Amino acid sequence: MSTTLLDVTAARSRFTALQRRLAFFDGPGGTQVPDEVIDAIAHYLRHDNANVGAPYETSRRTTALVELAHTRAGEFLGCSGDEVAFGQSMTSLNFLLTRALARELNAGDEVLVTKLDHDGNVAPWLELQEDLGIVVRSVEINADLSLDYDDLASKLSDRTRVVAFPVAANSVGTAPDVGRIVELAHSVGALAWADAVHFGPHGQIDVSAWDVDVLLCSPYKFYGPHMGIAYGKESVIGPWRPYKVRPAADDPVGHRYELGTCQHELLAGLVAAFDYIDSLGWDAMISHERSLGQRFLDGLPEGIDLYGLPTMEGRVPTFCFNVPGRTSEEVATHLADTYEVAVWWGNYYAIETMRALGLDEWMGAVRAGFVHYNTEEEVDRLLAGLKELL
Ligand SMILES: Cc1ncc(COP(=O)(O)O)c(C=O)c1O
Repeated sequence: MSTTLLDVTAARSRFTALQRRLAFFDGPGGTQVPDEVIDAIAHYLRHDNANVGAPYETSRRTTALVELAHTRAGEFLGCSGDEVAFGQSMTSLNFLLTRALARELNAGDEVLVTKLDHDGNVAPWLELQEDLGIVVRSVEINADLSLDYDDLASKLSDRTRVVAFPVAANSVGTAPDVGRIVELAHSVGALAWADAVHFGPHGQIDVSAWDVDVLLCSPYKFYGPHMGIAYGKESVIGPWRPYKVRPAADDPVGHRYELGTCQHELLAGLVAAFDYIDSLGWDAMISHERSLGQRFLDGLPEGIDLYGLPTMEGRVPTFCFNVPGRTSEEVATHLADTYEVAVWWGNYYAIETMRALGLDEWMGAVRAGFVHYNTEEEVDRLLAGLKELL
């Protein structure tokens, strides 16, 4: 198998934001955006700005853009563009979809979430627990922060209606076995409800091959604008009654979850973000970011408390750690001020993961996330900063 090499310098030259020394390891919170995405947004507002459905040129172009964005999002996710809904964010789309499904749920129905999940894939179910009396149960994680599949299997029952899980954990980088989770969920007739927000920049999503029923992601994590995307399998979400205004069209099925006017200019940026990813190719991006991840693991000074898998198997290159004797905030601030390295500190809305690790729920840990535009020099600078802090 040949590995395509990424020309990192050429990729970086497409981002004004990357023409500075600051090493952006904050991709898990939102990646930088190439100029072509920014230009597409501005171009739309300058030349095409309109609402859809009117018989004049800007409206016609806007209507075509909205259609194109759905088609391209369908290609990106591996589904029909009709099954795609655009919205404000993953979180808002997830509340919408879970509320629609809730019309089919009864008290005592069970939903499984995992201790690797971001709260965006947990809280909507907890609210339904509050409102409807459904039961939310949390699947355990192993010491290495992989998912405990035996625990998942043992928690399934004929009352399980949904298994909600992350395709990759935004806190500690674990990438669970999607096929295994989907198979387990479907074995009891439950829906497989995937949060692919963190996985988005790290590889090809394929809802058809994965056979998930619902999947959510957020383009601002993969070089696009701030918005969310939801996929719902037509045969699954088709029968649900959505919360929507009466005149809005019922079809295609994804449109039922697009409340009001879409963010047209952001859709222009989204199409440009898909073009950007296509121009590099997943193989090249993945092999580069994985080699950065391996470089980080190989160079990690002894004494740093790394939370999660110590190899690149079963994970994406998102690393969560603490430096003994220092708070996560101190570490992040020192790395920023002294090394021009941008990392986060905190809980990353992965409350159950922080609890399972026995960490302070507010201070949590430091998180450094690598994407394809990061460089070896930046990784080495992060490692040098950690060495000094020890
Ligand atoms: C794994 C994961 N799920 C959900 C979300 C929430 O996404 P959004 O900001 O689009 O609501 C995030 C955001 O960081 C995330 O990392």
